[in-house]
Amino acid sequence: MTWRAVMPAEDLWEGELTGIQLGAQKIVLVNVGGEIRAYADRCPHLAGQLSQGDLDGRVLTCANHHWEFDALTGAGTNPGHCQLTAVRIQVRDGQIEILADTDIDMAG
Ligand code: FES
Repeated sequence: MTWRAVMPAEDLWEGELTGIQLGAQKIVLVNVGGEIRAYADRCPHLAGQLSQGDLDGRVLTCANHHWEFDALTGAGTNPGHCQLTAVRIQVRDGQIEILADTDIDMAG
């Protein structure tokens, strides 16, 4: 595994979410009050893309059927029996970096 820079941290403003692709992996990035989190961009309900949803405070809402998640923990809040798949990130030298497979194809 290795850290891969995916975007400048300053391009993801507080209250924003965005989808990125790293190799074959789709990831949603959220910025909740300066705290950045990353999850698999796949709703645990019917696999909708969470990056197409809405971020309001720390509530991430899927656009498809409006399931809600705590954007800081990934825990389902409505309904509460689910959990987003967290992706490890760090911010280094102003870049958001994601822990990815070493041999990932960035052009993927
Ligand atoms: S696919 Fe996300 S709520 Fe149904």
